[in-house]
Order: sequence, then structure tokens, then C-alpha cells
Amino acid sequence: MSTIKDLNDGKLPNHIAIIMDGNGRWAKQQGRQRVFGHENGVKAVKQTVENCAKIGLDYLTLYAFSTENWKRPKIEVDTLMKLLVSSLKKELDTLNKNNIKLNAIGNIASLPKKAYKELNEVISKTSENSGMTLTLALSYGAREEIKSAVYEISVKVKNNIISPETIDETIINTHLYTHDLPDVDLLIRTSGEHRISNFLLWQIAYAELYFIDVFWPDFSEHHLVEAIINYQNRERRFGKTSEQLN
Ligand code: IPE
Ligand code: IPE
Ligand code: MG
Repeated sequence: MSTIKDLNDGKLPNHIAIIMDGNGRWAKQQGRQRVFGHENGVKAVKQTVENCAKIGLDYLTLYAFSTENWKRPKIEVDTLMKLLVSSLKKELDTLNKNNIKLNAIGNIASLPKKAYKELNEVISKTSENSGMTLTLALSYGAREEIKSAVYEISVKVKNNIISPETIDETIINTHLYTHDLPDVDLLIRTSGEHRISNFLLWQIAYAELYFIDVFWPDFSEHHLVEAIINYQNRERRFGKTSEQLN
């Protein structure tokens, strides 16, 4: 089994994003309620965050709750929000110990008050950290993100702050929730589903995609390392030919 020591330090992805999927099926497999899966999912989050910091990654972005997830049964949504609050409270020290800066993307204002408050508190209490940036995508939807960027740019055009001719990719980037983050290099999705589910549509334009069959609560160090090793063995051509790269 591969461990962190097996990684080629010279070719690490700068930004990994993960669609943490499969908590419900993991629980069902053991005859338990979905909530039990989410509780165990939190353990995998902690482990993965610590491992990514140890590897020396600069950016890790985790899809924790989508705009579509609000449609789930209220009891499940409530539990997820409670788990968010308790994890933030519990992990503040670990984040600081590992020099990790917390960030959030999504329609954060739509979170329950308690979650909103705790999130902002941990963001502010880790803001001086200079190691890895950990971004939680909460009440996040890529289409909503793009829609709100288009809206903000339109208002600026209307008020003559920018002219339509100057709109380029950089201007669009600066109006996305992710304006402080680089493009995603490696996107991992657990649970065997091969879809994006409205995650970072703009930012994954040239990401390497990696799908793995394990459910999120079972995702551990060697799965993470194997995903990165797989990434390190790919040739990223960005439209060029192989010959041009070599
Ligand atoms: C991912 O696991 C966690 C969230 C979406 C919040 P799921 O809850 O989607 O688990 P499955 O996909 O139903 O197994
Ligand atoms: C995507 O998982 C969202 C998160 C992991 C937070 P879902 O389980 O909600 O995605 P679908 O519904 O299967 O596409
Ligand atoms: Mg799912």
C-alpha cells in the first residue's frame, strides 16, 4: 500500500478538489441510518485534511454540501449542519496546529445562523495561517456561482465601471467565489459515481479527473496517495502536442 513517502515531491498538484460522496450508501451497507455515514464521513475529512497538509499541498477544496442538497429530508439536512458546527468547534486547534487557513465558497449566507457564525469565527481565527488553504464548499452550486458573477459584472457594466470589451477570463475569475484560488489540478470523486454534480464547473476546465469506487468514509491515506501518483503519471497537454511539451 502506497504511503505519503512514495510521492514525487517535485510534481505535486497545487490544488486538489474532492467530491466526498457515498456516506449514505456506506451506512446502508451496514444496516445503519444515513446519519451514521455522515458521522464517519467527518472522520475521513479530518484524516484527509491532515494528510494533505502533511504532503505539503497548497490548496484543498472539499464539496461538503451542494445547493441541491437542501432538497434532502429536513432531518438529514439538520444533522449535516449540526455536524458542521461541531466539527468546526472541535477542529479549530488542529487547523492552527497544522498552519491551515480555512476558507468557504458557496451561498454561505443561506446556512443556519449557528453554522454561519461558527464558520466565520474559524475563518477569522485561522486567517493568519500561511500553510494549506482548506476551502469548504457549502451550499455551493457552480451554476449559481456563475449566475451571480454574471449579475455582478452586468451591474458594473450598467454603472459604467467596466466596459463590455474588457470582459475577459480574468474578470470572470475575479467575480467567482473562488477568486482567491488557483484552478483545480486534480478532482477526485469517491463512491463510484462518474459525475460532477454542479461542482466548480469553470475551475475544472483543465483538471485531471479521478474516480474511485470506495465510499467516502473509507477514503484513507493510501487512496489519496494513489490518486496523486496516478495524477503524477499523466501528461497534461493543455491543448498542445506531446512533442511541444518535451
Ligand atoms: C456525500 O454522501 C455527503 C453529502 C452529499 C452531504 P451522500 O450523502 O451523498 O451519500 P450517498 O451518495 O447517498 O451514498
Ligand atoms: C455531491 O454529492 C455533493 C456533495 C458531495 C456535497 P450528491 O450525492 O449530492 O450528488 P448526486 O445527487 O448523486 O449527483
Ligand atoms: Mg451522494
